[in-house]
Amino acid sequence: MSFVKYEQKDFVGVVTIDREKALNALNPEVLKDLEAVIDAVDLDKTRCLVLTGAGQKAFVAGADIGAMSTMTPDEGRAFSAQGNAVFRKIEKLPIPVIAAVNGFALGGGCELSLSCDIRLASENAVFGQPETGLGITPGFGGTQRLARTIGVGKAKELIYASRNMKAPEALACGLVNAVYPAEELMDAALKLANRIAGNAPIAVRQSKKAVNMGLQMDIDTAVALEPELFAACFGTQDQQNAMTAFCEKRKHDPFIN
Ligand code: CAA
Repeated sequence: MSFVKYEQKDFVGVVTIDREKALNALNPEVLKDLEAVIDAVDLDKTRCLVLTGAGQKAFVAGADIGAMSTMTPDEGRAFSAQGNAVFRKIEKLPIPVIAAVNGFALGGGCELSLSCDIRLASENAVFGQPETGLGITPGFGGTQRLARTIGVGKAKELIYASRNMKAPEALACGLVNAVYPAEELMDAALKLANRIAGNAPIAVRQSKKAVNMGLQMDIDTAVALEPELFAACFGTQDQQNAMTAFCEKRKHDPFIN
């Protein structure tokens, strides 16, 4: 039995962390299952992923505290390395990943959402890094990605004070792009995923690469990277069909590359 489910809906894959009785908490086994599901995504057939948690209450309520309670420093290091490796794999997928945050996204759950490209939240979503209240630091990328996403001062406040924030505050600080009533969240995430999947796949992938790689570079190196990724789109059938259709004032064919 796997703790992570996968469903393919046309060009969109839906990944669900499915350990509802523990609010989808991440232990080494769940992380292993998540990695296996991510590795198995057919990138020829999939243009966007939606990542969510099973049930109405939690996206992911964090790393498994019971499992961590008996870890030695070496075991803690290995667990952090495992989580970081899986989340980096998600971040580096060539296709966009949307987190549909349907409730608690605490600790490892907040960190999992941060490894996704876009976060949409339900009205009952709660984000936070409660680790310092448990005697540890965030261990799955939270000390790095939260500051990069919402700014250093706010990230430090949340981490040092172990303070959670509800959906409206997460929206106001740019952690999430939009907030929906719980029952509308998945439809909204799928609608966005399908809209992304309806655009030129190579262009979407090159755009993701440009934004993510550029953020790690100085601005001169980053703007020098853009012409290369831009150029790689020229000559694709999608670029030729879409631009010819625009010039001929007609609707273009579906994107295929
Ligand atoms: N680890 C293990 N089990 C967890 C869990 C977690 N992170 N979060 C919830 N659960 C389990 C509870 O133990 C409980 O199990 P039982 O029914 O067997 O008792 C079940 O899920 C339901 O949880 P609650 O009864 O606590 O539900 P609640 O509605 O009263 O509270 C909550 C919900 C506020 C999210 C609360 O469960 C909570 O505070 N959870 C822990 C959140 C947290 O601190 N996360 C950070 C973990 S540290 C981390 O993630 C480190 C890292 O970066 C790698």
